[in-house]
Amino acid sequence: MCGIVGYSGIRQAVPILIDSLKRLEYRGYDSAGIAVFNESNVEVYKDKGKIVDLEKTLPNIPGNVGIGHTRWATHGRPNKINAHPHTSGNISVVHNGIIENYQQLREKLIRSGYQFSSETDTEALAHLINNYYKNDLVDAVILALNDIKGSYAIAVLCGNELVAARKDSPLVIGIGENENFIASDIPAILKYTRKMIFLDDMEIAYVAPDKVSFFDTGKKPIEKTMKLIEWDLEAAEKSGYEHFMLKEIHEQPKALHETFAGRISELEGTIAFDGLNLKEEQVKDINRISIIACGTSYNAGLLGKYLFEQLAGIHVDVEIASEFRYSHSSPGSLVIGISQSGETADTLAALREAKTFGGRSLAITNIMGSTITRDADSCIYMRSGPEIGVAATKTFMSQLGVLYLLALYFGKGKGKISSDRMKRMLVSLRKVPAQITRILSNKELIKKYAGIYSSSSDIFFIGRTLNYPIALEGALKLKEISYIHAEGYAAGELKHGPLALITKNTPVIAIATKGLTYDKMVNNIKEVKAREAPVIAIADEKDSEIEKYVDAVIRVPATDDILSPMLSTVVVQLLSYYTAKARNCPIDQPRNLAKSVTVE
Ligand code: G6P
Repeated sequence: MCGIVGYSGIRQAVPILIDSLKRLEYRGYDSAGIAVFNESNVEVYKDKGKIVDLEKTLPNIPGNVGIGHTRWATHGRPNKINAHPHTSGNISVVHNGIIENYQQLREKLIRSGYQFSSETDTEALAHLINNYYKNDLVDAVILALNDIKGSYAIAVLCGNELVAARKDSPLVIGIGENENFIASDIPAILKYTRKMIFLDDMEIAYVAPDKVSFFDTGKKPIEKTMKLIEWDLEAAEKSGYEHFMLKEIHEQPKALHETFAGRISELEGTIAFDGLNLKEEQVKDINRISIIACGTSYNAGLLGKYLFEQLAGIHVDVEIASEFRYSHSSPGSLVIGISQSGETADTLAALREAKTFGGRSLAITNIMGSTITRDADSCIYMRSGPEIGVAATKTFMSQLGVLYLLALYFGKGKGKISSDRMKRMLVSLRKVPAQITRILSNKELIKKYAGIYSSSSDIFFIGRTLNYPIALEGALKLKEISYIHAEGYAAGELKHGPLALITKNTPVIAIATKGLTYDKMVNNIKEVKAREAPVIAIADEKDSEIEKYVDAVIRVPATDDILSPMLSTVVVQLLSYYTAKARNCPIDQPRNLAKSVTVE
């Protein structure tokens, strides 16, 4: 999830590229670079750090055509070598997305004599285009894209020629007077033009100063329609959504897709992790795991416990990081630290403490190069892309995605999952992003219920087994952003205390998807209904029984029981968001909270 810009026109390219890149910087990228045709050859400048740092190092480069990139590392650490553009001969490339088969391509290209200097997947693409280039840039790009599996938005510069293409990653062409632009995100170029043409998947654009031509992958010309963007800059930064939180909730299908990219083979029933130095056969020796985390990451860890126990038969303790440090008990032989930021002081301190007992450590994080990646023995990246809203949403979803894959991987290593079950689970997992999109299309109903209960002073979220962590996460989200007192409870535990608080003024959100404890959950719903609490159930779309017991039902697509927590998550996020909105709360920056907490 990086930022791409491109320019071809009558003005100097460098100031426009730099200015456009700066407009994407609010997302916290880690490195940047540009390539510009200086009237005889292409010059490339790139570095780790902020755009202003890059800008300071730039000489005066004349030239009217160029590309630029601001990177958010996914393959290879944030450093100068891994920064884009990547070059091969006369070809320079900036890329957003993940090339899933880059290892195979890399090996093939090395055999053909190409040398690699970076750890990125993008460099393989630069060499591949160079390999196919025979004086026609569009032909070379099409041939290279045919060889690629994965997602991409790219801009390619060769001499003064500029080509863009996309698949599963956004790219827009800005139309000006004697100048045209490329951008991954509208805010980058909104200052220069409001006339935009959105590329669709598998489309290629040849961008010249006075004309943009569009082609399909068979090089057949395509007619495209121009749109006039009326958003101001602030709305454009949020892609038109009112808050970053809502935008990020909608980005979850894409985030999850990237979490899975290149790691799953449904056909073979296998899972592979780039950063995990623990082979399937080594998993056999792990009999106890400790998961350490804070906040939302803790809730993800709690779901991880159920997954490892059910799918791999491994006992898991989940520890709140700030408590673990003082527990004096030895952790399992594998300690997993979960932290989207990779910088949470309590989690880092607890992980260091855990390491003093020996044993292995693994980090699950979204930020490449963050402190946790240096402290842990190995690391799996969530690949959610930058998250701006303080309340974690898409990073929670990607944490769940990683934990599902990891638990399945361990299940296979432990011999607890048959090859058939594995294949079926992976097929179902792949469907989850599209199922989330279906829930998002039903958000008006969720908004309606949120509006009805937004004046409550207490709300309960209840669930059992796999749904219990999602009840905790729903309550956490609601209290963070709406300031309503909310409790997440294991539904079976209600009768041991909290039932005393349940009245007709205490709405209960009951996560009641089908599964092992469905009947017991229905009993718990009856318990709260008997105290006159209004109950909204989150239930499977095929469940025709539940509506008899509750006041309202929000449906989620039917899936493998074990996967439904990912779907219920989206509902509790939207309920929290619309409740906070109805109460006029500052959703993206809730009072007293910070995105990354670096004090203990
Ligand atoms: C802060 C954030 C939470 C987050 C927690 C842990 O409290 O506001 O949203 O869940 O830190 O953060 P981490 O980066 O370690 O996942």
